[in-house]
Amino acid sequence: KKCIAIILAAGQGTRMGTKTRKQYLKIAGKPILYYAVEVFDKSELIDEIILVTGAGEIEYVRETIVQEYGFEKISRIVEGGKERYDSVWNALKTIEQSEEDDAIVFIHDGARPFPDEQILERTYEEAVKKGACVAGMPVKDTIKIVDKNRAATETPDRRTLWIVQTPQVFQSRLIIEAYRKMMRSPHENVTDDAMAVERMTGNPVFLVEGSYENIKVTTPEDLKIAEIFAASRNKISR
Ligand code: CTP
Ligand code: MG
Repeated sequence: KKCIAIILAAGQGTRMGTKTRKQYLKIAGKPILYYAVEVFDKSELIDEIILVTGAGEIEYVRETIVQEYGFEKISRIVEGGKERYDSVWNALKTIEQSEEDDAIVFIHDGARPFPDEQILERTYEEAVKKGACVAGMPVKDTIKIVDKNRAATETPDRRTLWIVQTPQVFQSRLIIEAYRKMMRSPHENVTDDAMAVERMTGNPVFLVEGSYENIKVTTPEDLKIAEIFAASRNKISR
């Protein structure tokens, strides 16, 4: 099936706290955003990439990412919105307008530089079969639920807990319908795309194995780890 990737880079990077937004910080000589775009651009599965960036950053991204590295599959650069879901919705609307109702849509965080081809293949297969899936990994730590006083109230069985990553991959008709319904109802604390499908449709969302390298660069110490992963990727691709 036709595969469209939405790569999100319209966030503010508040938790990183750097002056330059984190997606444009360089690790091993290249912008963080470069790494994820490269995986999707190189993948034989992917037909088209929609990049979502902040208002006023479209030209900057065109010059520093698209032209600088010669990516070929970026078909449009869309302006993002206030929250992550606003950014996703702006991109989904362009897919809806082009009437791609039987495509597979990959939604990926631009701040997550190290997905790989195998993850794209696994999630693709599952999305074709089941309609909706997300990459994730079993948690390594014990997780506790705490109350307002930070007293531990519950310790869920670790074997039932997975951290959720991106890509989150869906049949286009399903994710567009889920988002359309969600954007019309209360949705303040929606933090990933799977939640839209879980809440707004009867279609279950399945977890597919991602990888422990597929980290999101969120706070300053993540940069150090990312630097190491980036250096080894650059070595492989050279
Ligand atoms: N994102 C986006 N539009 C938004 C918010 C987030 O496109 N309005 C993107 C970010 O650029 C990032 C991904 O969604 O690639 C995951 O978000 P997160 O890690 O939370 O990044 P930021 O929102 O930029 O960081 P923070 O929450 O610390 O401000
Ligand atoms: Mg955020």
